[in-house]
Amino acid sequence: MSPQDVAKRQAAAAALAYLEPDALVGVGTGSTVNHFIDLLAERARVSNIRGAVSSSNATSERLRAIGVPVFDLNEVEGLSLYVDGADEANDRLHLIKGGGAALTREKIVAAASARFVCIVDESKCVDVLGKFPLPVEVIPMARAQVARELATFGGTPQWREGITTDNGNHILDIHGLKITDPVALENAINGITGVVCVGLFARRPADVLIVGGSSGTRVLTAR
Ligand code: 5RP
Repeated sequence: MSPQDVAKRQAAAAALAYLEPDALVGVGTGSTVNHFIDLLAERARVSNIRGAVSSSNATSERLRAIGVPVFDLNEVEGLSLYVDGADEANDRLHLIKGGGAALTREKIVAAASARFVCIVDESKCVDVLGKFPLPVEVIPMARAQVARELATFGGTPQWREGITTDNGNHILDIHGLKITDPVALENAINGITGVVCVGLFARRPADVLIVGGSSGTRVLTAR
């Protein structure tokens, strides 16, 4: 396992402590969350959770493969915990997500959850968000028009060609941003007609950020 994978696994292992018996848990998407799912299976914790709401078809498949019942969000009242990774995180626990194209369902499941525990390796921690291209899910017919509007924010939107989201939409990645006011940018992008979701998680940041690194894990909580 690479040092980065070891760090991801450490963060994922630390997130197990937030699971309560009989919990309904939201589960995100990506390689860090895959470690979390593997650990759930390995440690026979599957029997301790009632089930999960998943943020992607890929995660649903993995959860079912280890015997976790996967519920539709419409079938449940709400979730006590959401565990997910991120592409970038700042010390306010604002995040960029969507590198795996699952941002819309991830944001919905995060919104439905009482506590959002984000698990990352050290390389994801930044002072200013934006080095990682900001993903925006768009309705396909609006892609070019939305790209022109996004360009007015100073970055360069690029169509992630060949990718269709689980919702049947396209992704634009905005390169070259320096996001000094994440809440304002999230609101502004949400206001563009044709945008389904932006991968900035600032209005609803993580509540807990677990960072895996060469010297173990550190835990940041929302201020
Ligand atoms: C998927 C995401 C992931 O959480 C993000 O891309 C991090 O992935 P990884 O854990 O593989 O580094 O937002 O849409």
